[in-house]
Amino acid sequence: MSITVNHVPVLYAEALDGLHVRPGGRYIDCTVGGGGHAAGILERSAPNGRLLGLDADPEAIALAGERLQRFADRVVLVNENFAHLGEVAEAQGFTAVDGVMLDLGVSAFQLGPAGRGFSFQTEAPLDMRFDPRQSTTAADLVNRLPEDALADLLFLYGEETRSRRIAHAIVAHRPLTTTTQLAQVVAQAVGGRGRIHPATQSFQALRIAVNQELEVLEAALPQAVDLLAAGGYLAIIAFHSLEDRLVKQFLQREARSCICPPGAPVCVCGHRATLRLVTRGAIQPSLAEVQRNPRSRSARLRVAKRLSGESVNQ
Ligand SMILES: C[S@@+](CC[C@H](N)C(=O)[O-])C[C@H]1O[C@@H](n2cnc3c(N)ncnc32)[C@H](O)[C@@H]1O
Repeated sequence: MSITVNHVPVLYAEALDGLHVRPGGRYIDCTVGGGGHAAGILERSAPNGRLLGLDADPEAIALAGERLQRFADRVVLVNENFAHLGEVAEAQGFTAVDGVMLDLGVSAFQLGPAGRGFSFQTEAPLDMRFDPRQSTTAADLVNRLPEDALADLLFLYGEETRSRRIAHAIVAHRPLTTTTQLAQVVAQAVGGRGRIHPATQSFQALRIAVNQELEVLEAALPQAVDLLAAGGYLAIIAFHSLEDRLVKQFLQREARSCICPPGAPVCVCGHRATLRLVTRGAIQPSLAEVQRNPRSRSARLRVAKRLSGESVNQ
């Protein structure tokens, strides 16, 4: 089945403004996806700005390659997880850059009819891997985890308060191989069809666990700061509260010059602020954007500016 780019970039103008994209600048898009934000960065940085784009999903890299073809040698695309951002950027000569962007989550084409298992609205095998080279799928977790561990996973990553009941129902109906089977089992276990499908949080939890989303984000953030030149900008769009909290806490910590426990008589941490917060709270999509693109409704954009050349890890 051929795949087309139907992803509408979220908080597009806000993210590009936050990055202060300028002609001749050098940028890294850690989640290039369908190339929407990347195309905007390349347009605004014309005539000679450059962009390194990463994506864990080879299909995203292929799509972005087509969409960004017109920018020729101003763009380099690499099929890699952003957990390895530092290595990839060094290898491609993208250090001391003017901006780094992360637009977390799923591209629209990954939710679509090609069936990657991310959505309960599309019948597909329970996969949910961004990177097909990775071994563990959602089906492995659903069919192999002990009931308690499955309930903990749903609670921790989906903030699902009915996790025990759902895990019990899943175990009783194993093996489950498709998205619609899982969605039905969850719906039967917890009942009701409100505005939000009862399987929404369970699907989120499995996707986060399959892709180790919180762990790789935690690994990538300090690398992103270290790759910025002084005065460069970091822009991050998060789509669920767990990743937004992680981003917010990281940015706040990096914006403080001392991270000693409150009440410590003298500073012993040796920490130096590496960022200045540009956005105090998160920027959210306007009502008009949410109406145009309902997928944008949970997006939260945070922007920070690099202060000095000091490493985050010092
Ligand atoms: C919301 S989409 C990005 C869309 C893009 N900004 C655009 O405008 O087309 C998120 C992308 O991040 C990718 N992704 C998710 N986790 C990743 C990771 N750890 N490393 C690299 N790419 C990742 C997904 O495959 C997906 O294509």
